Amino acid sequence: MVAKSMEELVSLCKRRGFIFQSNDIYGGIKGLYDYGPMGVELKNNLKASWWKSMIYERDDVEGLDASILTAPDVLKHSGHEDTFSDPLVDCKSCKSRWREDQLEAKSCPNCKSKDLTDPRPFNLMFKTAIGPVDDGTSFVYLRPETAQQIFTNFKNVLTSTNKTIPFGIAQIGKSFRNEITPRNFIFRVREFEQMELEFFVEPGEDDSWHKYWIDSRYNWWIDQGIDKQNLELLNIEKSELSHYSKATVDIMYLFPHGKEELEGIANRTDFDLGSHTKNQEEFDIKAKVKKNDKSTTKLAIHNLENKTWTIPFVIEPSAGVDRGVLAILNEAYKEEKIDDNNMRIVLGLKPHLSPIKAAVIPLKKNNEEIVNEAKNIKNNLQKLGLGRVVLENSGNIGKSYRRHDEIGTPICITVDFETLDNKSVTVRDRDTMEQERLSSEELINYYNEYFN
Ligand code: GAP
Repeated sequence: MVAKSMEELVSLCKRRGFIFQSNDIYGGIKGLYDYGPMGVELKNNLKASWWKSMIYERDDVEGLDASILTAPDVLKHSGHEDTFSDPLVDCKSCKSRWREDQLEAKSCPNCKSKDLTDPRPFNLMFKTAIGPVDDGTSFVYLRPETAQQIFTNFKNVLTSTNKTIPFGIAQIGKSFRNEITPRNFIFRVREFEQMELEFFVEPGEDDSWHKYWIDSRYNWWIDQGIDKQNLELLNIEKSELSHYSKATVDIMYLFPHGKEELEGIANRTDFDLGSHTKNQEEFDIKAKVKKNDKSTTKLAIHNLENKTWTIPFVIEPSAGVDRGVLAILNEAYKEEKIDDNNMRIVLGLKPHLSPIKAAVIPLKKNNEEIVNEAKNIKNNLQKLGLGRVVLENSGNIGKSYRRHDEIGTPICITVDFETLDNKSVTVRDRDTMEQERLSSEELINYYNEYFN
């Protein structure tokens, strides 16, 4: 079952410390959110899972962490300065601004007036001054996607790692877009994170690699706990493709507000390396690129056998971390009947994504011996390095179970008087709510098996 409404998710996120409105105490800013103690763990776990599948479990992808502030030349040649805009209309009655493509019946969503200006392009990139003088000439952009600095680092990574195509460069990081109408909680925001892979391939092998990455990314989302029934692959119409793309397939997810894009997998051809390379005339660049006389570096691969230079094609799986978090929360959220009088909310997160792996709960809050034993168990489990373990010393077992059900903690471990005698503990499983008594050795084995 998926959450009934976005409101329920928003409420859980605030109540349990996943996500807060940013700048809240000063009234908040639309389209900006802060991840709280549980949110940051969930988000880090999702990113770690992506990094593991992209880099550690493969031999043909390397990582990168490039700067956010980006030179205007990069975003000129990427096409963003010219084309990264939304059509914007102003309502002449109430002075509000809207994206033209999001208006229903061509009327203002705020006051319903039909007295709107003609649409005009509104560039979504944030600019900021750089250096000591702020006279409008020395500026940089906050990157609108993580991809571009992967392309500008192509040669650095290639030569420092001795890779050859097919190979990829992966990056996770913040991107910024001045969205006109941020909405639907963390779905469309102005500051967000992306997990992007640029996978460089031989021209001619691009179509089969594109298919490979569509399948691989679809299956990865299922491994994160997303039900197949809520996913769909959407072939983007030729007329809707971005300026760099030959073909794009979006992985669509049924969010609480409707079915929308979770990740896009694009065949970017040789557009990017062809746009950023020096000596463009030396190559047979297939994409339509702007003349570049500023680049200092050849972004091509040298074929030692036939002594030719090729600009690889690029397949790009590009996923939003925040949209991933929203989809995963939505999938995991369940309301369950415990008995005739009681319900519980439980987040059935996959264990590798749970913010807290185990909560160790002393039966008596003020019993020093029990609390110290609980602290020892917590420290021993924490040392195994499988994620965060907490000591939950509220003194109220029922309340602790409720809290940990709602944040998706797979295991609660209760320490009681019997523990002092023989070191055994009670372990409660989040999903079945069943409890069993385990010795200290059994607990370590159980825990290791659960998370490995
Ligand atoms: N490098 C390609 C690229 O950036 P995109 O479709 O514009 O393509 C990729 O963005 C992913 O980034 C989307 O599938 C989405 O998950 C996420 N994303 C894009 N804009 C976003 C926004 N305003 N808020 C949250 N996530 C966003």
